[in-house]
Amino acid sequence: MTEVINPATEELITSVESHSAEATKDAIGRAAYAFTRWRTTAPAERAELLRAFARAVDADIDNLAALEVAEAGHTIGNARGEAGNVRDVLNYFAGGVERHLGDQIPVAGGVNVTFNEPLGVVGIIVPWNFPMPIAGWGFSPALAAGNTVVLKPAELTPLTAIRLGELALQAGIPDGVFQVIPGKGSVVGQTFTDDSRVAKIVFTGSSAVGEKIMADAAKTMKRTTLELGGKSANIVFDDADLELAAATAPYGVFDNAGQDCCARSRILVHDSVFDRFMELLGPAVSGVVVTDPSREEAEMGPLISAGHHESVAGFLDGVDIAFTGSAPSGAGYWMAPTVVLPKSPNDRIVTEEVFGPVVTVQRFRDEAEAITMANDSPYGLSGSIWTRDVGRGLRVARGVDSGALSLNSHSAVRYSTPFGGFKRSGIGRELGPHAMDSFTETKNLFIATD
Ligand code: TAP
Repeated sequence: MTEVINPATEELITSVESHSAEATKDAIGRAAYAFTRWRTTAPAERAELLRAFARAVDADIDNLAALEVAEAGHTIGNARGEAGNVRDVLNYFAGGVERHLGDQIPVAGGVNVTFNEPLGVVGIIVPWNFPMPIAGWGFSPALAAGNTVVLKPAELTPLTAIRLGELALQAGIPDGVFQVIPGKGSVVGQTFTDDSRVAKIVFTGSSAVGEKIMADAAKTMKRTTLELGGKSANIVFDDADLELAAATAPYGVFDNAGQDCCARSRILVHDSVFDRFMELLGPAVSGVVVTDPSREEAEMGPLISAGHHESVAGFLDGVDIAFTGSAPSGAGYWMAPTVVLPKSPNDRIVTEEVFGPVVTVQRFRDEAEAITMANDSPYGLSGSIWTRDVGRGLRVARGVDSGALSLNSHSAVRYSTPFGGFKRSGIGRELGPHAMDSFTETKNLFIATD
C-alpha cells in the first residue's frame, strides 16, 4: 500500500494498493484481449463512448477537483480547469475518430490506399505535477485511435486517475480498454516498458527516467512519446509592454508552485529596461496569493512533498535573492515565490530545472544575445517573448529551439495545438490535430485493377 498525503496539511488522505509486476502483467493481458474488440468497434460507436466518458467527467468535476486539491495541492481554480481539460480533450479526440483519414495515392495499374491501424496496448506513465491533464493527453488520442490503455499514475498522486478509471467504466467503456494501475515506477512502469505486448509508452516525467525508458523500450522496438523537463526563457525586449510583462511574469513561472515543465524559470531582460522591469516585478511577486489551495482566492499552493521541498530549497543555498513573496507557515510543504539574481550563467540555478517557485533574472544586450542565452540549455520545451515589434517577435520565435512558444503572453497548453519539446525536453508531440497519428501505424494497400 502507498500512503497519499495532503501536501498542504501533511495529513494522510488514504492508502492505495501498489500493484505488483504480476498484477501489472495480468492487466496488460486484459488490455491485449480487449484490443481485439475495441479496434473493430464502429467509429461512430467508439466516438460516442468517448463522449459518454467526457460527460461522466463533466458531471464529476467538483469531486475530481477536490481530489486534486487534496493530493496535489493544486489551487481549486486550477483543479477545476484541469478536470474540465480532461473532458475537453476527450471530446476533441472523440471528434477525431471519424475523421482520422488515410490517403488515396495515384499509382499505375490499380488503386493505392493507406489505413491508420491502431498499435495495440499503450502504456501511459504520468508524473505528479499535473496528474489529470497529462493522463488525458495520453489516453484520449490513444483510445480514439483504437488502442487500449494501461495507465500508471505517480505514486504521490493516484486518486484522480483511479477516479477517471471508474468514470470510464460507468460511461460504458468496455472492460480492459482503459485500466489504471497504481504502483511504483520501478515495478509497474518498468513492467510496461519491458512487456512485449505493450506497443507504445507515453511517458511524462524527468529526463533521467525518460532516458532509461527510451533505452529499455528499444529492446522490444516500442514506440515512445517522451515529455520531459524544461528550463524555459521569458525574453523581455526594451519595446515590450513592460507593465504587462512584469505583471504576468510571476504567473508564467509560479503557477502550480513552479512544478510545471513549461515554467518560464529564466527571465531575460534587455539591459536598458532591466531596472524598471525589476521595480515592476517586485510588487507583482508580492501580489501572488499563496494560501490554502482549497480557498477560491488561492493562486499558488504548496510543493508536492517534503523530499521535493528539500530539493528545491537546496537550489537556494548561497544564491543572491532579489526578493520573495509570502507563504503560510506551519504544516505543509510551503515555499514563497523567490526571485534570484544569478552570479554567473553557469550557476546551477540557471542551468538545472528547479521545479519549484524560483525564477532567475538576467540581462541581455541585443536580439542575438537573447536568442543565444535562451538556447543555452539542454532543454527546449516552452518560452515567451515580449516585444511590440512583430517582426522581431517572429525572428526570435524562429531562433529559439523550443516546442511551444508564446508572443506577448504566457500561453498555457491548448488541446487543439501540438505540445512537446526540442532537445532533452523530449521526443514526439501530444495534442493538436495530428496527435492520433502517433497512436497508429500507416498501412499501405495496393489493389490491382488491371
Ligand atoms: P519521474 O521521477 O520521472 O516520474 C514520472 C513517472 O515515472 C512517475 O509515475 C514515476 O513513478 C515513473 N517512473 C519512475 N521510475 C520509472 C521507471 N524506471 N520506469 C517507468 N516509470 C518510472 O518525474 P517526477 O518527479 O514525477 O516529475 C517531475 C519531472 O517531470 C520534472 O523533471 C518535469 O519537468 C517533468 N515533467 C515534464 C512534463 C512535460 S509535459 N514535458 C510534464 C510534467 C513533468 P513513481 O510515482 O513511482 O515515482
